[in-house]
Amino acid sequence: DQLTFGMIGLGTMGRNLLLNMADHGFSVAGYDKNPAQSELLEKAWANDAGESKTVVKGFTDISAFVGSLKSPRAIMMLVPAGPIVDSVVAELLPLLDKGDIIIDGGNSHFTDTMRRDKALEAEGYHFFGMGISGGEEGARRGPSMMPGGDKTAYEFVKPVLNAVAAKVNGDPCVTYIGPGAAGHFVKMVHNGIEYAVMQLIAETYEVLRKGLKMDNAAIGQVFTDWNAGRLQSFLLEVTSDIFKYHEPGETQLLLDSIKDEARAKGTGKWTSQVAMDLVTPIPAIDSAVSMRDLSKYKAWRVQAAGMYGDEIAPLAVDKDAFLASLEQAFFFSMITTYAQGMHLLASASEQYSYDLNLAEITKIWRGGCIIRAAFLETMLSAYQADSSLKHLLLAPAVQAIIQETVPGIRTVVGTAVAAGIAVPTYATSVSYFDAFRSANMPSNLIQAQRDYFGAHTFELIGKEGVFHAQWQGKEATNP
Ligand code: 6PG
Repeated sequence: DQLTFGMIGLGTMGRNLLLNMADHGFSVAGYDKNPAQSELLEKAWANDAGESKTVVKGFTDISAFVGSLKSPRAIMMLVPAGPIVDSVVAELLPLLDKGDIIIDGGNSHFTDTMRRDKALEAEGYHFFGMGISGGEEGARRGPSMMPGGDKTAYEFVKPVLNAVAAKVNGDPCVTYIGPGAAGHFVKMVHNGIEYAVMQLIAETYEVLRKGLKMDNAAIGQVFTDWNAGRLQSFLLEVTSDIFKYHEPGETQLLLDSIKDEARAKGTGKWTSQVAMDLVTPIPAIDSAVSMRDLSKYKAWRVQAAGMYGDEIAPLAVDKDAFLASLEQAFFFSMITTYAQGMHLLASASEQYSYDLNLAEITKIWRGGCIIRAAFLETMLSAYQADSSLKHLLLAPAVQAIIQETVPGIRTVVGTAVAAGIAVPTYATSVSYFDAFRSANMPSNLIQAQRDYFGAHTFELIGKEGVFHAQWQGKEATNP
């Protein structure tokens, strides 16, 4: 019997997703150039299969792999983003028939997906780009998936995707996102939000250890407590576990031995780059990207610490009250971060005609993905209550939480900045909000300056047209 689904790239993600499909009764094939990987796939299934008769077959020969699949073939690639995706497609095409389906399940840049979508459609193949979130565990037990592009192809593989996806109240965390590169765009913004929330947690760690002088056990307890309340989220859960983890035989936390230089594969940076192109402010994500970048300048930081000092005096605060403020600050900033991400999705939907359904996207982010959090239920109700909601901060349900938590973020940012603790993502979150709620921004002055030195013109309140002033001449004649 021929197999239902094929996977190219049998790293942890590819292997786990195939095993997940096999759990649900789909017979599958995996291909990897590296024989060790295809052996590992078969061994893993031999281990997990139990009574199941479902077939999981590993291949190191691409034609044999393609030949093992039912027609029309459904083949997913889970390979590193970039030129490797193009070379895999090039290797695959001569072996396929028109009408076969190619799915890119990696974190490809959406402009690459746009290009591949057009090229492959023109040649008679079905292509779709699909963001997959949830890491290793998600792939094995239920990821959140964001497919976009060729809808016919999506409908064809929908039963497989629905079966393997994470479920929330029985709903699978997968939905058709939109045409073209919509799926990869939405996954990219998911990752941007992921970067900012991770940075907020890191800043919290910094305030707790350097400001409140708490030890690891106490810090871990804060994250555990937060995760048991309204801040419940996968990223806090992960963090709480990290604060308990020792290598076998070690007394010290592994965390304390890890270098303080953060790496990145690009999705956060791409989110910021695109946001600038789409004139959409997402400062929380921008600052999270910048802080990963700053962390890499370790030698300069050490030198500067010697020059300027990096000692932080203990915060003169009531600890319990301050911890309560910190909880509010985190909730506030988490919400403004999601709001910024959703704003970017709304902008992209318009610019690229993705026709995104923000309620549906929120729905499939409630389970399986890295940014899943209890707050998404509130976000979902906000979008369900008002499908034309322009910005999350304009939703009444969100307004109530923001009003309740804003005192906390003011206390935390004010105190941390005064003490010399770096909290850029917290700080930018409250400043974004303060500007957002300003009926009058100081941008009239920017316009005046632009016109002063560059004759860039300005618009006047209550008057049609554009104007230019003789700024220097006026200054000279009216001293
Ligand atoms: C996910 C993650 C996943 C990956 C990130 C890591 O949703 O499962 O986002 O895609 O862990 O891409 O990104 P960085 O290496 O850039 O931190």
